[in-house]
Amino acid sequence: LTAAAAAGAAGLATGAAAAHAAAAPRDTGEPDPALAPARSRAGARGGLPPALLTPTPSQVHLVAVDLRADPGAPAREAARRVLRIWSREAAALHEHGLAALVEGAPSQGLRPASLGVTLGLGASLLAAVGLADRVPPHLEDLPAFAADHLEPAWCGGDLLLHVGAEDPVVLSSAVGHLLGAVAADVRVRWSLAGFHRSAAAADDPSATPRNLMGQIDGTVNPRPSDALFGPQVLAAHPEPALAWMDGGAYLVVRRIRMLLDDWFALDPRDREAVIGRRLDTGAPLGGAAEDDRPDLAATGDDGSPAIPLDAHIRLAAPENTLGARMLRRGFSYDQGWDARGRRRAGLLFTAWQADPRTGFTPVQRALDEGGDALGPFIRHEGSALFAVPPVRGGAPWTAHDLLG
Ligand code: HEM
Repeated sequence: LTAAAAAGAAGLATGAAAAHAAAAPRDTGEPDPALAPARSRAGARGGLPPALLTPTPSQVHLVAVDLRADPGAPAREAARRVLRIWSREAAALHEHGLAALVEGAPSQGLRPASLGVTLGLGASLLAAVGLADRVPPHLEDLPAFAADHLEPAWCGGDLLLHVGAEDPVVLSSAVGHLLGAVAADVRVRWSLAGFHRSAAAADDPSATPRNLMGQIDGTVNPRPSDALFGPQVLAAHPEPALAWMDGGAYLVVRRIRMLLDDWFALDPRDREAVIGRRLDTGAPLGGAAEDDRPDLAATGDDGSPAIPLDAHIRLAAPENTLGARMLRRGFSYDQGWDARGRRRAGLLFTAWQADPRTGFTPVQRALDEGGDALGPFIRHEGSALFAVPPVRGGAPWTAHDLLG
């Protein structure tokens, strides 16, 4: 039903996994045939990140790390080592699972559960290794937004480890293993685990998942079969200096806390007006079904817009953002309550795109400028941007053509 489910998040594999064809995540099922057009378009330049080939996993863990500043260890060597080790270990995990590699692993007796690993590079990494001239302008820091309440400790990162799986023990043990393997070279800057409802609990596992606000979230997304999927989601870099990212994707990560007590204090009809969609079916107000195209011109009986002027979907719509598009894949996070008794829960928002300057940024600006009705119920507390290189057949490790 959804592009999020179809194009979905994540068999999340590294370039390494793709470089070692036999090491791709092995129990993710068949690639969605709808992805074939996007895959073949990308094929000439590398390959669609495997992250886009398999359904959204029910569990993810994102870990951003920084290189340790060690005068005795040149940064470039350390970056190479981390990418080489992560690529090798990810391929081994995809192929065999942790239990076959490490005696006494917590995942003994568990199948690989669609484990998939993706690696991202931050602009700060390229600066640290003296490759500032190879930084695509796409990777420039995101501008400040009115919605920002950012905690520096939850922002940025030299490298991103993005791991998805269907099982929390498989996921946790793989993340621990990957971090342990590079502990001498990196320190964790921030990490955040996210989840979706499990397929086992869902009446309809193909239905678009709901977020913790109870909304069906992920309906409007570019579909892999769309002619524009490739141009909107995959980066085009014909310039030799930036060829290492040709066919890759830029990943915006936002940690967005939800003020759930305030949200659920709202009348359900008011909650629908905030988004511009019905809570039960996800249909746009004035429409009948989830997949109906929102009619921004529709009016109610009293002549007022069916989708309010400050509704989230009106402001974020391509009509209002010069056609900006990205592949949104949100996950929920829930870390209980903070010391002041407030819920620490929300949306681990991830957005994949060809260029954040024509994807995430204009949409967030439009939400800011239009006074997004969702704004009072959310707080953007973390932010990061990573380059996720394409899959290169035969490359020994991820981003080898940049750092090798
Ligand atoms: C649509 C929720 C943050 C961009 C939607 C929808 C929901 C939703 C329920 C309608 C269903 C769908 O199409 O997926 C939320 C929540 C957020 C959040 C709860 C924060 C906690 C963001 C952010 C952006 C964004 C940060 C980008 C800057 C969009 C876009 C659409 C959308 C582009 C589709 C609009 C259209 O109909 O064309 N969001 N969203 N959202 N959201 Fe968000």
